[in-house]
Amino acid sequence: MAGKLSIATSEFNQLMSKEEEAVTQPILQVILASTRPDRRGGAVANWIQRVAKEHAGFGVEEVDLAQVALPLLDEPFHPRLQQYTKGHTKEWSATVDRADAFVIVLPEYNHSFPAALKNALDYLFVEWADKPVGLVSYGGISAGLRSVAALKPVLAALRMIPVLEGVSISNFGELITEDGELRDDAGRDAAGILMLDEIARLAKVLMPLRTRFA
Ligand SMILES: Cc1cc2nc3c(=O)[nH]c(=O)nc-3n(C[C@H](O)[C@H](O)[C@H](O)COP(=O)(O)O)c2cc1C
Repeated sequence: MAGKLSIATSEFNQLMSKEEEAVTQPILQVILASTRPDRRGGAVANWIQRVAKEHAGFGVEEVDLAQVALPLLDEPFHPRLQQYTKGHTKEWSATVDRADAFVIVLPEYNHSFPAALKNALDYLFVEWADKPVGLVSYGGISAGLRSVAALKPVLAALRMIPVLEGVSISNFGELITEDGELRDDAGRDAAGILMLDEIARLAKVLMPLRTRFA
């Protein structure tokens, strides 16, 4: 009888933990940082979104900075205070606030990251803090790595947690098909999965931490 009861209890606990997992699945926002007309970053963002959906560790949302369309920072108070005066800031704050983790898809412009990304980051502070972030860069021979190097100190200033495992795509123009998508590459998929695994690992421990100190 006791044996039966303990099996039933362990089955119940397993079911409950599966249920909890489903409820607390972290929200991953894939932020597309290039905003130009005819930009090519959409192919890269589509690729990592596909991998993230297949990964199944997150609820995946796309955040396209071209659609968010923030003006140059126009708030009078430091974002730490969260005393937002503009509708676009309040909307941006609500979007970023609901995320538990991010992947930023970024090109390299003149050896750094796009100004639209810096502007979008500068608008907020608390909403970014204590959240893991993976970086997917693309470019010519440099694969956007100078862009990544320039971005990391900015993320640290916002108390974000960049993961080591990123994806850097070199000569990416040659990898785009006629349909405007990135050509399949199992090695790149594997690098994406490694990055997402690490983001998921950190998101799990950071989520309760944020709740506790909110
Ligand atoms: C303003 C500008 C600056 C660029 N600077 C670099 C650079 O420093 N290094 C690089 O590898 N590619 C550079 N490129 C080429 C970009 O990698 C390429 O145009 C890419 O498609 C940009 O991404 P996007 O189409 O998503 O905007 C630059 C492109 C632009 C428009």
